[in-house]
Amino acid sequence: MGVMTRHEIDPATLAPGGVYKLVNACVVPRAIAWVSSRSADGVDNLAPHSYFTVVSVDPPMIAFTSVGWKDSAANIDATGEFVVNMAAGGFEDDINATSTDFPAGISEFDAVGIEREPSRRVIPPRVAQSPVALECRKVDITPIGNCHLVIGEVLHVAIDEATSEPDPVTQRHPRPDAIHPLARLGRNEWAHFGTTFDLKRVPYRKWLEKQSSRGE
Ligand SMILES: Cc1cc2nc3c(=O)[nH]c(=O)nc-3n(C[C@H](O)[C@H](O)[C@H](O)COP(=O)(O)O)c2cc1C
Repeated sequence: MGVMTRHEIDPATLAPGGVYKLVNACVVPRAIAWVSSRSADGVDNLAPHSYFTVVSVDPPMIAFTSVGWKDSAANIDATGEFVVNMAAGGFEDDINATSTDFPAGISEFDAVGIEREPSRRVIPPRVAQSPVALECRKVDITPIGNCHLVIGEVLHVAIDEATSEPDPVTQRHPRPDAIHPLARLGRNEWAHFGTTFDLKRVPYRKWLEKQSSRGE
């Protein structure tokens, strides 16, 4: 195999904003949390966040990053609740439209025409057409760099039956091949769902067995 010729980049040599764009393009694909929240004044907010992941197993916690201090972070800070709706294929334009910087008094649900559905455990509504909703209670909002890390405990999970299948452990397994979860890449790039494959983790004991059967 040939030796790779690498371009080495010192972040300090990039124009302001350049590092951000570079790192964005390097950490891909990112799942998109379509976050619904309600302001203290009762305005329902909806915005996509791709700086998003699971951060604790027990209790189950997820987190997303607000770059700066946006309406979603402010609402969650004020009311202590939010919902992460899964960004499913087919909703690209709606999701993108809810990233428009509407003034705080305007609900993206109404401006974009997204149907609400009541949540079970929290006040902010779910997106009716999203196949997965994670209802969350704020655990913490931590300032980090020029951003805010919003951490929430998952209190309730709502799964669409048509795009999921029974599972002996989780009750329902959302089927990626039916949901086509969207992902965000760098620049203005988004990604559609590809293919899935199963790969079991190898315990060390099995690893050793494999090595010895090879006579190594
Ligand atoms: C696919 C996608 C992913 C985004 N991810 C983030 C993110 O992780 N953090 C962030 O602060 N903004 C992100 N944005 C931009 C916000 O959605 C946008 O600033 C929005 O207006 C914020 O809404 P809010 O002020 O109602 O909270 C993303 C936009 C898109 C289209």
